Amino acid sequence: MRARHFLIASFIFFGCLWTLSAQNAPSKYEAKIDSLMNLMTLEEKIGQTVMYGGGWAKTGPFVNTDYEKYIREGSVGAMLNVYTSKATRDLQKIAVENTRLGIPLLFGYDVIHGHRTIFPINLALSGSWDPELVELTSRIAAEEASAEGLHWTFAPMLDIARDPRWGRISEGAGEDVYLTNVLAKSYVKGFQGDDLSKNNTILACAKHFVGYGAAQAGRDYHTVSMGEDELRNVYLPPFKAAVDAGVETFMTAFNELNGVPATGNKLIFRDILRNEWDFKGFVVSDYTAINELIPHGFAKDSLDAARLAMLAGVDMDMMGHVYRKNLKKLIEEGEVSEDLVNESCRKILSAKFKLGLFEDPYRYSDEKRQQETIYKPQFLKAARDAAAASSVLLKNDGNALPLEKSATIALIGPLAKDEYHINGNWGGAGDRKGKSVSIYEGLQEYLEDSQMLYAKGCELEKDDESGFQEAIDVAKKADVVLLVMGESYHMSGEAASRTDIRIPGIQPKLIKKIREAVPNKKIVLLLMNGRPLDLSEEIGQVDAILEAWYPGTMGGSGVADVLFGVYNPSAKLTVTFPRNVGQIPIYYNMKNTGRPIPESNPKQDYKSNYIDSPNTPLFVFGHGLSYTTFQYSGLTLSSAHIGFNDTLTARVSITNTGNYDGHEVVQLYIHDKVGSITRPVKELKGFQKIFLKKRESKIVTFNISVEDLKFYNNNMEYVAEAGEFEIAIAPSSDFKFKHLFTLE
Ligand code: BGC
Repeated sequence: MRARHFLIASFIFFGCLWTLSAQNAPSKYEAKIDSLMNLMTLEEKIGQTVMYGGGWAKTGPFVNTDYEKYIREGSVGAMLNVYTSKATRDLQKIAVENTRLGIPLLFGYDVIHGHRTIFPINLALSGSWDPELVELTSRIAAEEASAEGLHWTFAPMLDIARDPRWGRISEGAGEDVYLTNVLAKSYVKGFQGDDLSKNNTILACAKHFVGYGAAQAGRDYHTVSMGEDELRNVYLPPFKAAVDAGVETFMTAFNELNGVPATGNKLIFRDILRNEWDFKGFVVSDYTAINELIPHGFAKDSLDAARLAMLAGVDMDMMGHVYRKNLKKLIEEGEVSEDLVNESCRKILSAKFKLGLFEDPYRYSDEKRQQETIYKPQFLKAARDAAAASSVLLKNDGNALPLEKSATIALIGPLAKDEYHINGNWGGAGDRKGKSVSIYEGLQEYLEDSQMLYAKGCELEKDDESGFQEAIDVAKKADVVLLVMGESYHMSGEAASRTDIRIPGIQPKLIKKIREAVPNKKIVLLLMNGRPLDLSEEIGQVDAILEAWYPGTMGGSGVADVLFGVYNPSAKLTVTFPRNVGQIPIYYNMKNTGRPIPESNPKQDYKSNYIDSPNTPLFVFGHGLSYTTFQYSGLTLSSAHIGFNDTLTARVSITNTGNYDGHEVVQLYIHDKVGSITRPVKELKGFQKIFLKKRESKIVTFNISVEDLKFYNNNMEYVAEAGEFEIAIAPSSDFKFKHLFTLE
């Protein structure tokens, strides 16, 4: 007991000295960590590399029940899936008061698109093309999470995803590298703020490093194989952007990459992340991913798995027991150098110091702050705005939308009154019942109850048609039919890959029946789903389609704002919608091939086409309608040639030619015509979201420097190559280049 008091006293003494040193100087923590590590046994250092989970949420195959025992032993550094100020305080108390050195725990949780106040899913948010909005949503998420004892979120997910079969496409920013890079920075800034020592900022985590989105056949956890060209030019850049934005932590991916599982992959963690990019934070494995080196066929047993992961640069073992059980033995046997464990421990402690946990381990676990913070009215308002700004108007024939406030609406579909699925798969700690606003409730703000004729019609996935007749009857009585359909929330997210990406169950059949019953009425399809769907059947049957994704806590209100034109839709797709599953992977920035299809004859023999489907998708990347129309006129370039040190200015005039004020997402695309490795047919290189009143015009300007033209060439050097570039400023990726400049 005395020894413990002496250790704690000396720790406090050193702590006082440390506090006197300069604020924010990197060395400040190093000295503190040195002193602390001098007091730590090897077991205690290993303890810092261990993350266990409580049962507040289940995010993996199993949960630990014995975590308290291990915390008491000092062999846990971080906890997963525990939140609320009380629960985190109780566990923190064990770590601080009942262990020899009283090192505080780090509490991590998947705060993915909101904590209590749930925002639209990340794929939806990316469709707002609004970096400030993304930053705001993650700032609010951090405010709420930090008030409930959380120090760390496992977000953002920066996996480029081009396969809608993959359920986790819902968690990222879509298929494009440039947009994901931009949003990576917004997420990191939002979560971490500008000062981690403030108690309302949390550590962000760039995940899943790397290649997870390229799982073969879109099957989760599946093999990934890609050349260095694709790795460096497509999958790595968002992670580099996160490092540049100061992200504090990284998470490994479940997949293997070119034969080496990411979690045991020295090339990506030591060589690229640490040596090339100079990342100073720590790396956590994904959930039991170190154990999974065994079934991958990469490690022969758990000892081997611990060795491989530690050598690869994985600092913390999430849920695996692998480090706790094996690291000491590996060090004793000389298989792993103690320096590596010291390094990992140092980085984890450093994060705890940055968060101020050594000054006050309970600074995030404050019940009063929790009560004052969660579901603040301004957070709910932001969630409503975000839902509106993320809903994509895919089709709007005959101005079926916006709805008239005087109309009688038939509200049909299994998601019309839903308050559960609307939050998406990572609904965080959001209250799925009671707090969430359903579409039905959202419409109630605009309509009298007598104007809303409701029939569920069918379930999301079952095949019981007994509700069809009631749905048809209400459709007949109404002026307009609003179908609220889609996927159940568990059809996207982790371990939720689909081979059939059509609207599930008998919902498509119900749409058909309603169209037959009311051939001349306007039918609006309001979709909630977590991936691009194959809508080839539905597109011909309905007048309008509004893709609301899973819009979150205030989804019903935000979507109703769009339906009634209070918010003029402005979101645009960040992922391509295929015509059929056979076209996958399909994305706008593909390569040309040696036999591209001629425009005049897309079916021509011996060309790169399908015999049973066009090459073009149903909806292109960047597509999204508005209630108004925008006209792009003229594109002028400041010069037809630029040198390597010059800047090219491209200008276009945009006019709101319709009858609503509205936002337009203006997109800049470039095509590097010839490269030492082939370049995509077009690449997004900039965007601006502008607001134009009706009849208003604006000149939009983009400056292009050589930095925008760089890529990893055939020697894997990051350079721009001299030559010709095509350029366009367009409302979506569906355009033909007409302008050219050269880099000389
Ligand atoms: C997921 C991660 C998540 C982790 C912790 C894993 O199964 O792949 O994205 O952060 O669980 O919940």
